[in-house]
Amino acid sequence: MRLDVVTIFPDYLRVLELSLIGKAAGTGLIDLAVHDLRRWAHDRHRTVDDTPLGGGAGMVMRPDVWGEALDTVLDLPAERAAAREAATGRRRAGTRQVLVVPTPAGEVFTQRTAEDLAHADQVVFACGRYEGIDARVPEHYRQLGVEVRELSIGDYVLNGGEVAALVIIEAVARLRPGVLGNPDSVVEESHSRAGLLEYPVHTRPVSWRGHDLATSWPGLLSGNHPRVARERRERAIARTADRRPDMVARLDAQHLDGKDRAALAHNGWAVPRGAAHPVPLSLRRALAEDVPGLVVLARRTFPDACPSFLTTEQVTEHMDRHLTAERLGAWQADPRVIVTLACLTEDTPAEAGPVRAGEPVGYSVVILEAEDDAGALPAGLDPRPAAVNVPHRPAGGPGLAAELSKVYVDARLRGSGLVDVLLSEAVRGACALGVTTLWLGTHDGNRRAHKAYRRSGFVKVGTRRYDVGGQSCRDVVMTLSPGACDPQQPVWSGR
Ligand code: ADE
Repeated sequence: MRLDVVTIFPDYLRVLELSLIGKAAGTGLIDLAVHDLRRWAHDRHRTVDDTPLGGGAGMVMRPDVWGEALDTVLDLPAERAAAREAATGRRRAGTRQVLVVPTPAGEVFTQRTAEDLAHADQVVFACGRYEGIDARVPEHYRQLGVEVRELSIGDYVLNGGEVAALVIIEAVARLRPGVLGNPDSVVEESHSRAGLLEYPVHTRPVSWRGHDLATSWPGLLSGNHPRVARERRERAIARTADRRPDMVARLDAQHLDGKDRAALAHNGWAVPRGAAHPVPLSLRRALAEDVPGLVVLARRTFPDACPSFLTTEQVTEHMDRHLTAERLGAWQADPRVIVTLACLTEDTPAEAGPVRAGEPVGYSVVILEAEDDAGALPAGLDPRPAAVNVPHRPAGGPGLAAELSKVYVDARLRGSGLVDVLLSEAVRGACALGVTTLWLGTHDGNRRAHKAYRRSGFVKVGTRRYDVGGQSCRDVVMTLSPGACDPQQPVWSGR
């Protein structure tokens, strides 16, 4: 690969003599040449600029000087160019030449651009200074059939194109075979094809100034390579969600497995079934105006969780009694009940119909076993099964029990990890209110639910009978002690 840089400050590019790029130039892997633009100026002062036509601040670089410089460097004498182009339809058949003009007004230079440029045979950089190069220069070479890329390295303005050329050269050259010592380095790094930022990296000592990886990331030291790879990917997802939501929004859903989706959900993104990309998720306490939407969701999701021996009439009778606007409204208004709802923040096409922004797609209900001033328990609290123990508070004093009464997710969001997020949020919310044991009953045959509860730390402690529309069902009873949490941390909300 040949790299040519045309500039009025050739010394600026001396840094290219250093490091791996310098070594690659030294060993002939890359053929690098820096040219002083003033070589092509004609007057005594070797002038390369003039005042802007139409007025305005600063100076503009002259097209005639640049024309002569680029004709030479691209090996394109002016008088031969038109004839050659007419003859071949393209310049220099078989070789790919690219003229790069760094400018803050260009298209944004990305890793994809670097990968593309790394396949060129020659890249010529035209480094402008002052207010830039006369706009006819890139236009002219484009007309001649030269591939011209006007590139910006970011949304800020530098004093000239030299630093941008250095950035582009480094990003391109390291992708050429033989330039990097370890070619694997380019596979997993940030902005690779995975579309994620790179995971955080660490080395010895394992414990440094109180930052102990054995505690904060034990999996990293497990020696179990698939586990390390999985956890690194999850940290890459968390980091990308935190720093570059724009990249998360562009992830291809087809390349995200169930664990990726769960990691995304924990970081505020959901992938509905059949959606092309992740969508921001919002989780919050329900408001009074959410009640009608919650009733619709509750009545849509409840039948899915029922055992097949229940009749439609039995299920409907149960819903008419327990999943009403009155009941959900009472819960929403009761400070002893935590009703959390999840929704997407954008309209999203999904397999089984579109999901509308703001429409509830998941909810949970935690009911505290606490009496009000009149000595009444909250509406809809099931009797606590005998198998559920209520431990004392860690600091002493009586414990507090709560029932995790509901955790339901719309079928379009199944497999998105939303259940786990609702569960963690329910546990955190219960903990913040001083709950020492959180319990739930779920149908004996609902293996998917049992698995999700176990993943979140619930353990089976017994069974209970539960009535659905006059039919007695056998439920598994599970409990969890919320343990330590940060009660200050608010319910997070998506972007
Ligand atoms: N020249 C001045 N600012 C620039 C930028 N942000 N990118 C590329 N070239 C530039």
